[in-house]
Amino acid sequence: CGIIGYTGKGNAGKIMLDALELLEYRGYDSAGIALLDGGKTQIVKRAGRVKELRGLYEELKPAGQCGIGHTRWATHGGVSNENAHPHKFGKITLIHNGIIENYKELTEKYGLEGSLASETDSEVVAAVLEHFYTGDPYSAIRRTVLKLKGTFALAILFEDQPDKIFAVRNVSPIVAAVTEKGAMLSSDVAAIVPFTTDYFVVPEFHVICLSPQGIDMFDLSGDRAEVEWLKVDWDVSRSGKGGYPFYMEKEIMEQPQVIAETILPRIKDGKPDFSEEGIPDQILKDCKRICVIACGTAMHAGLVGKSLIQAMIGIHVDVVMASEFMYNDPVVNKDTLVIAISQSGETIDTLEALKFARKCGSPSISVVNVKGASIARASEYVIYTNAGPEIAVASTKAYTTQLAVLYLITARMAMARGLWEEERLLSFMNELQRVPQVMAKVLDTKEEIHRLAGVILNAQDVFMIGRGLDYSILLEGSLKLKEVSYIHSEAYASGELKHGTIALITEDTPVVAVVTQDKLKSKEISNIREVQSRGARVVLLIKENETLDEGEQWSCVYRLPKMDDPFMVMPASIVLQLIAYFVSLDKGLDVDKPRNLAKVVTVE
Ligand code: G6P
Repeated sequence: CGIIGYTGKGNAGKIMLDALELLEYRGYDSAGIALLDGGKTQIVKRAGRVKELRGLYEELKPAGQCGIGHTRWATHGGVSNENAHPHKFGKITLIHNGIIENYKELTEKYGLEGSLASETDSEVVAAVLEHFYTGDPYSAIRRTVLKLKGTFALAILFEDQPDKIFAVRNVSPIVAAVTEKGAMLSSDVAAIVPFTTDYFVVPEFHVICLSPQGIDMFDLSGDRAEVEWLKVDWDVSRSGKGGYPFYMEKEIMEQPQVIAETILPRIKDGKPDFSEEGIPDQILKDCKRICVIACGTAMHAGLVGKSLIQAMIGIHVDVVMASEFMYNDPVVNKDTLVIAISQSGETIDTLEALKFARKCGSPSISVVNVKGASIARASEYVIYTNAGPEIAVASTKAYTTQLAVLYLITARMAMARGLWEEERLLSFMNELQRVPQVMAKVLDTKEEIHRLAGVILNAQDVFMIGRGLDYSILLEGSLKLKEVSYIHSEAYASGELKHGTIALITEDTPVVAVVTQDKLKSKEISNIREVQSRGARVVLLIKENETLDEGEQWSCVYRLPKMDDPFMVMPASIVLQLIAYFVSLDKGLDVDKPRNLAKVVTVE
């Protein structure tokens, strides 16, 4: 969910609605704002998008120069006007991200049954704050926080504290900034960037108080705490849609540039270099195993990393879904290098798994896109993907920049272990540096890919088949298609298909097949024949120089520009992203905000 808070000279309502639009990718089930105006709190909230909230706001025209706003991704309590944030209880109005695990106990303990207007755990927190509030906000917050079990980012208004916003957090993020127009807080920098590039991350269990004059921060014992300022280092002018109808298309198109920005600063004399990140070769050299922890698209990036590292370094790599990590009695120790991959750097499953692994003594590197995010701070070393802000919920450029970092890690690991001759290393790095130009070549054929997407447009079910690295990227390609087009799609290791799932193949199930690895080609082609002979229409992605037996069945072939086999995932991924994008576009769907999803998931 997205949080915004503003107090200053400006029109708080308008500033917050604009900010909520920028934060909508964090959730868009319902939205609301609360404004403090001369000892009166006015709340405008409803189920639906920020656009709908704006309509209601225009109708009701609430006044105020201090307020908090929220865009929600439902967890506790369904999508309804009542469950939308902010929640008011007595003098307290608040917004909450996260999950309060002991809300039922608190409801009982403070006799709240029957007095709550919503089904949310968040309203319970407002009620507990009200219980403790006797005129001193800090004391009420401190006493309440000590009762809470779970995760929270809370932005709070006290009706008799004009112009002030209080906030506190545990795990769920809050950033804050002082701008020319006033003080602001938010769940992430996207909403603050139009006003300033200077911000700070509120440390856990610290209370901040925003007033038009600035921000004060105290720890829970009441001692004043120092703020550690950070600077947004991406180009702010790049944060709009840049003339594209959707962010997803813009972000797909940006990939040649952001890949270059991710790899070039880490290449010195033609070799991979992590001296800026301070990563000692020792941890790449000494580890006996690697464990990648991540969720969703980031986990799929990890699977490509596994294939690369196992093939080139010869050490065992596990890729574990972060949400499952803790429940499988993970065996990690000082010999296991943990690599946590996350675009947002805030996915709580990944964060918790990383913290656990560190407790077990594992050295850790995180691969994160958002600077200063929780996962980056919780790991020993961080390599930032320089993808810039990714706004579309379906991840594209973050994924390929994660892959780019994994190539760099693989090469540096080979170097640290003395595995490759200089020539091999330089040639690997040369090929990596060719990725942006090869991607650009694929992007130039956008319209051809648009035509391929037509094969899938009206399908109910799609299968995507390949082996090895091809299978790994199809898992991501299939997720992309599901997310943005709502077509049921399954990526299948093509050799496994015949062991049952082939029963589902008919002439109505298009199959996307990727064939990019020389050593797998003949087996993959055989598997394609198996689905073709069951009537399936196949969209084939294959290297430009490969020969194919002539015939009707190869009517949908996309020729990928040739790279060395380990790098073919890069051009192929772009084609899969564009297929998903065009299917969604042609179905007239809201490409950037698919139903039920949120880009940043800070609940377990
Ligand atoms: C959410 C997003 C996915 C993303 C996953 C992991 O589910 O919708 O697109 O891959 O979280 O996010 P992270 O920020 O950790 O990469």
